[in-house]
Formats: sequence, C-alpha cells, structure tokens
Amino acid sequence: MEETAQTVALVTGGAVRIGAAICRRLASADILVVIHYRTSSSQAEALRQEIVAAGGQALTIQADLHSAESCAELIERAWYKCGRLNYLVNNAGVFRRDAVTDFVIEQALEQVWLNAWAPLILTREFAQRCPTGGAVVNLLDRRIHGLDRTYFSYGISKRLLENFTYICALEYAPSVRINAVAPGAILPPRQPGGEPAPPAGAAPLGLHPSPDDIADAVYFLLTRTCITGQVVFVDGGQHLHGQIF
Ligand SMILES: NC(=O)c1ccc[n+]([C@@H]2O[C@H](COP(=O)([O-])OP(=O)(O)OC[C@H]3O[C@@H](n4cnc5c(N)ncnc54)[C@H](OP(=O)(O)O)[C@@H]3O)[C@@H](O)[C@H]2O)c1
Repeated sequence: MEETAQTVALVTGGAVRIGAAICRRLASADILVVIHYRTSSSQAEALRQEIVAAGGQALTIQADLHSAESCAELIERAWYKCGRLNYLVNNAGVFRRDAVTDFVIEQALEQVWLNAWAPLILTREFAQRCPTGGAVVNLLDRRIHGLDRTYFSYGISKRLLENFTYICALEYAPSVRINAVAPGAILPPRQPGGEPAPPAGAAPLGLHPSPDDIADAVYFLLTRTCITGQVVFVDGGQHLHGQIF
C-alpha cells in the first residue's frame, strides 16, 4: 500500500472532457487524483503524465461500472492504492436519446443504472470507509428542471441521482457531505444520435459554461465543510426556462 498524507479524490470517467477538467482542477489544488476510466486508457495515461509534469500527483484505474460488484471493487482498489479516499466525484455517465414512445427497456435500464444507481453504490461504499469525513459531488444536468421528452431515460436517471443526492446527504451527515453540480450544455454529446449543443442564446446569460466552470463548482462543493444536500446549476441560467428547448 502506498501511504500518502495528501487529500485523495477519485473521479469516475476522469480521462476525458468534463472529467479531465475536474481532475486537472483538483490536481492543481495539490489533491492526489485517481483518474478512473473504462475505455479511454491512452487519454487517462496522457492526463496522468500531464498532471505529474505540472507538479501534481495522479494515478489511473480501469473499471467498467456495470454492476454493484464492480463499483464496490473500484472503491476498494482506489483505497488500497492510496491508503485513503477523501473525495468522490461521480462524473461517468451515458447520454442517449430515447422517448416514452420508442425506448428499449434494456437500454433505458442500462442508462439509469450507470447515471444513478452506480453513483449511489459508489457513494455507499465510499461513505462506509469514511467515518471521519469526506465529500461526494454528483454530476447531474440542468434537465432536472423541466421535461425533456427526447432524452426520456437520461432525464429520469439524473432526477433519480438528484434524489439520491438529497437522501444521501441526510443519511451520511455529519461524516460525509453529498452535493451535486447540474451543468447546462457544456460539450456536444459523444453518443451517436445526440444533438449538438444549443446556441448560446438559449441561456439567459447569453453564454454556455466551459468544463473548467464545472470543475470550479465541483472543487468548491468538495471543499466547503458547511454545505451538504445542495445542487448548483452551472448553466448560464438555462434551467430558469424550465422547458428544455
Ligand atoms: N457534456 C455536457 O454538456 C453535459 C451536460 C450536462 C450534464 N453532463 C454530465 O456531466 C458528466 C460528464 O459529461 P461528459 O459529457 O464529459 O461525459 P461523457 O464524455 O459522455 O462520459 C464520461 C465518461 O463516462 C465513462 N463511462 C461511460 N460508460 C461507463 C461504464 N459503463 N463504466 C465506467 N465508465 C463509463 C466514459 O469513460 P471512458 O471514456 O473511459 O470509456 C466516459 O469518458 C456526465 O455525468 C454528464 O451526464 C454533461
């Protein structure tokens, strides 16, 4: 076991896109970052090297979070490698288009699993090992306000994770704080069939936040010891419209 005196954060789906911005932000604050990835091994290794070259500390762990066992195993492996975990960022997710009229139940359940139940299991495993303090941030979506009929299963999954955020905040207080960030349109979807990000005019502030804006909000919530059960929208005010488009 590699003992370290540093604060340690596990970021799921941390190798690319918003997850990578979160890893960079945490590493810049002298936090040892565990970059979790599923398929993006070369990006995870490149990010690790980038962080180390900048004077930070990072390591990588591969896991497919398809089951409760694999979620528990990820927490256990990260803990074993670092000797502790102080922060967990539930960033990994899937974003697939479907509707009530055409959803396929297996795909809907897979999406709800990865976006909601897997973060819940990870949180429970993390919290059980953190009796003296820790923090979790869940990545939601501004879609938790309003009804998006074109991303039906995805919207359900993020609303479920919002609910898990509140109940876990209550359940695990005072030892572990649980908060969430709800991004607006940050990056175009990777999944086939996704629509491009809406124009900046769709947000009341007339701009769309960057991955770095999301990372700043995650860092803020991880490190504020008086905040739990909070959802911060980082979306240029898009959620205020209620309706999605
Ligand atoms: N992009 C946006 O504009 C936006 C807007 C609102 C909310 N969000 C939320 O913010 C978070 C990050 O967004 P993003 O667009 O950067 O995410 P993303 O690129 O769609 O996915 C993040 C990572 O999730 C991992 N992942 C997918 N399936 C997995 C599985 N079965 N097991 C383990 N890991 C798995 C992938 O890792 P590998 O690459 O290693 O396979 C992927 O890199 C997500 O929770 C998303 O819902 C994003």
